Amino acid sequence: MSIPPHEIIVIPAFGEEGREVLWQQCFDVRLDVFHHEQGFPAETEKDDLEDVGTHFLLRLTPSLKPVGTIRATRGNGYYKLSRLAVLKDYRQYRFGRELVQALEDWVRADAKNNRLSVAKIHSHSQLYVKPFYAKFGYESEGDEFDEDGAPHQLMVCTVQID
Ligand SMILES: CC(C)(COP(=O)(O)OP(=O)(O)OC[C@H]1O[C@@H](n2cnc3c(N)ncnc32)[C@H](O)[C@@H]1OP(=O)(O)O)[C@@H](O)C(=O)NCCC(=O)NCCS
Repeated sequence: MSIPPHEIIVIPAFGEEGREVLWQQCFDVRLDVFHHEQGFPAETEKDDLEDVGTHFLLRLTPSLKPVGTIRATRGNGYYKLSRLAVLKDYRQYRFGRELVQALEDWVRADAKNNRLSVAKIHSHSQLYVKPFYAKFGYESEGDEFDEDGAPHQLMVCTVQID
């Protein structure tokens, strides 16, 4: 299997130059996957974490075609991983793995800046994706719950900060 050349960028923060265009590219990947492919309502895709979130975009090089995204936010005592999506035609290239690792690197740097010795990352996982997160050390916590009309499970990863 030959993996298409690609890069992951962290898009500029809200209010910074270049944010809108790149955020829209992340959002379009999400709409394609969560709305058109999986059938979630388009209106639930945009939430109140868009502006405060740190968005990552995986794009092919040299075409810069957007194919994957993930979002990191700071919660109350934990970080949150959300909106992980890779376009259907580009799955199984380890792009999902790279996006999860890019988010974890960002969490490590942020936690270090804030002098934390340990950081927790929360993800609300669709049930079928639980084995994917488990590969990266995420463990189930609590009962399944409904989110946007589909069953989800809280998965938590504990990261030691050196
Ligand atoms: C989940 C998703 C991001 C995975 O992306 P991907 O690029 O295909 O995943 P990768 O190629 O990086 O897979 C990494 C590993 O996880 C495994 N994996 C991928 N999807 C999996 C799944 N649904 N269940 C179990 N394992 C999975 C791969 O086989 C691979 O294993 P390996 O490293 O041992 O070979 C992608 O399937 C997707 O976008 N799904 C639709 C959106 C979605 O459900 N997002 C999650 C919301 S909670």
